Amino acid sequence: MTQMRVLLTGATGFIGSHTWLNLLACGFQVVGVDDFSNSSPAVLDRLHQLAGTEPAFIRADVCDASAMAAVFSRERFDAVIHFAALKAVGESTEKPLAYYANNIGGLLTLTQAMAGHECKTLVFSSSATVYGKPESLPIREDAALSSTNPYGATKLMGETILRDLGHADAGWAVALLRYFNPVGAHESGLIGEDPRGTPNNLMPFVAQVAAGKRERLKVFGHDYATPDGTGVRDYIHVLDLAAGHVDALNYLLDTRQSITANLGTGRGHSVLDVVHAFERASGTSVPCDFVARRPGDVDASYADVTLANTVLGWEATRDLDTMCADSWRWQRMNPNGLAG
Ligand code: UD1
Repeated sequence: MTQMRVLLTGATGFIGSHTWLNLLACGFQVVGVDDFSNSSPAVLDRLHQLAGTEPAFIRADVCDASAMAAVFSRERFDAVIHFAALKAVGESTEKPLAYYANNIGGLLTLTQAMAGHECKTLVFSSSATVYGKPESLPIREDAALSSTNPYGATKLMGETILRDLGHADAGWAVALLRYFNPVGAHESGLIGEDPRGTPNNLMPFVAQVAAGKRERLKVFGHDYATPDGTGVRDYIHVLDLAAGHVDALNYLLDTRQSITANLGTGRGHSVLDVVHAFERASGTSVPCDFVARRPGDVDASYADVTLANTVLGWEATRDLDTMCADSWRWQRMNPNGLAG
């Protein structure tokens, strides 16, 4: 069988880098694209070390139409996995234009370049954020959709654009993958989540408190309608998420059918569950202060994963303790991330 050729955008980011490695392990030929706006070139060395071959890489911004056209003119791709996007909710409310320009502009530039070169197979990074405040739990893919901030709006709009594209041209096969809360790291400790500045998300913040880089965790809200009053989320190991991309890609290539699927474990854990699991994994303590709720946060969010289980044959296998152990190993081995 000829090797399938896949283009990855946002390839040196957290989810991109883990998916890259998994695709190589599954026999795909991969070319990565990134502009390093939120990642480091050092990721390429780490991937080289892990994969045993030099990763094929092009430094480019997906919003740059001529750069994207050049990528597709140079070589043929069977499919694209599009990770490249801005993803900080708070920042998106301060810089909405940057979010619309990058996340919508980048998607348009990319799909136009793809269409121009008859590459119509796409896996798109969506997010559980498209469910807004969920009406019932666990959340199924046919739940109502809404957004409460520009970041969420770009994911919702990205999904709409791709659905419209599929309606207009049945040649497109698109997977909209709605991620719940990706955490953890590769078990080698060589690649992981590398936030710049103060982490916005819970797990990297907890890891930095455990490592002594930050003093205390602020627990946002302890009066939610959850068993211990703190927010409940569906944390999913990034390696399980990476495997979900490979399964979704194979599904598109095999069936030419589009699909919208949740990628989560189907289990909810509270902020305090995460803190306690991290304390066990690291053997350190994670001191906490209870503070006010963070605007825009919901009580609980976890996925119904029946669709991905049955249609993609995919299931998350790693539990919260494994997520914390792998996240801790990455934190210990790279105390200043890869840029520092
Ligand atoms: C957040 C985004 C979501 C985005 C995802 C990407 C918001 C409102 N949502 O999801 O749109 O797709 O990141 O990674 O930002 N928490 C604390 N203290 C902290 C940080 C978080 O208590 O310092 C709590 C939160 O209140 C929440 C849980 O930890 O209950 C998880 O938070 P986080 O990791 O930021 O993820 P989400 O808010 O679920």
